[in-house]
Formats: sequence, structure tokens, C-alpha cells
Amino acid sequence: MRYLILSDIHSNREALVAVLNRVRRKRWDKAIILGDVVGYGANPNQTVEMVRALRPHVAIRGNHDKVCSGVEDGEMFNRVALQAAVWTRERLTPSNLHWLRSLPEGPVVVDGAFAVAHGTPIDEDAYIFGEIEALNVFRQTAFPLCFFGHSHFPVIFGLSPDAIQTVLTMPPSFRFRLEPGVRYLVNPGSIGQPRDGNPLASFAIFDSDTRTVTIHRVPYRVERTQKKILDAGLPRPLADRLALGR
Ligand SMILES: [Fe+2]
Repeated sequence: MRYLILSDIHSNREALVAVLNRVRRKRWDKAIILGDVVGYGANPNQTVEMVRALRPHVAIRGNHDKVCSGVEDGEMFNRVALQAAVWTRERLTPSNLHWLRSLPEGPVVVDGAFAVAHGTPIDEDAYIFGEIEALNVFRQTAFPLCFFGHSHFPVIFGLSPDAIQTVLTMPPSFRFRLEPGVRYLVNPGSIGQPRDGNPLASFAIFDSDTRTVTIHRVPYRVERTQKKILDAGLPRPLADRLALGR
């Protein structure tokens, strides 16, 4: 089975279109969404509708999905994120608002094969940035393999009996074979707002038969997305950071 793993799209239509164009030539069976479909960008409805059209096998909510759809009020958000969330909430169609509000909280186990979570499988709003957080999650859970998002940073953590390993993935396409006896936490990176210093959209394909994760990076028309954000009156830092990948 080949799973298309998409995370942190953040209302970035151009980035999602580029990713879906790329995978049109690839074989994949089931789409998995790790949350934050909306928030920050200027195309929330178009983005939700494209994701819904994929008929995802599993889609879980992210912190921005919660605030943008009114499940939470966003008191923990910074000013820029909250401003974008309120802007998004005012523009979502009733149908898309309902779809976002219905997204379940992670972790969710997919086909008995792996788990998915937005931030971590312990706390959907917490971050895994490095090995300390990864080790904490490995210790408190038992999933052999879990995909997560939220940090917008593509990375693979592996826990073997004697060590924890960090694999930083290099663009444009990085293949990694999961080893037997090792547990993994895998972040496919962010489609709509990468934060690893590389502006290319990031996503993953997981082949459960060969136990291979491939992280792909795809260019898209960043200037177009930036212009839309500014034209919509959304905060300028949201546009500026897209070109930097931060
Ligand atoms: Fe996010």
C-alpha cells in the first residue's frame, strides 16, 4: 500500500496544486492528512475543497484547523496567527467549516500499520523539534511508526534498543528504508509553509510493502501566494517567510 502523507497545507493553494501535480505521475493508494489544512494563507476554501476531493482515508485536525473553525478560541496563538485565523473563520463556507470541525483529534491508527498525530501522539498541540522531545514520545507511547506534523520541519527520528538517531532529509527527494526492530517518528514537512530554511513544498509517500518513506520537495509559485496574502490584507510576515522557508 502506498500512502500519500500531506501535512500543514495552511491555505496555500499554489503549493498544494504543485504537490498534487507531482503525484499525478506517481502511484499512491490512500491520502492521509496530518492537520493544519487552513490558517495563514489566502485560499482556505479552495484548499479544503482540494483536500476533500482527494477523499482522504484518514484526516486529523491541527491547531489551526481548531481555531479557524471555532473549536478553540486561539488564546495561545500569537497576534499574526490569530489575525489569520479570524480572517479564515469569517470566509470559510458552512460546508468547509463543518468539515474542519468534524476532523478527529490524533493519534489515529491507520490500517493497523502506523499512527498519525498533528503535534505528538501524546498532545496534539505539542511540538517535536529534536531528540529530547522524540525520546519523550517514544517512552510514553508504543507505536512502531508514527507520522506527525506541526513543526513544519521534515525529519525522521529512529529509536533502536541502544540509540536514538536523527535523519535530516535532503531535497529534492529523499528515500529512507525503515529498518526492522527500530521505532520511528516521521515528519513529512509542510506543504504550505516549510520552516527548514527551504521554501519548497514538502510531503511524503510511505510504501508499507517495501517499508520505504520518500520525502519529496516541490517548487511552486511563491510570489503568487505572497501576493494573494498581501492583497487579502493578511499580515506581511506571513508572505515574507514563504520565500525564506522559515
Ligand atoms: Fe501548522
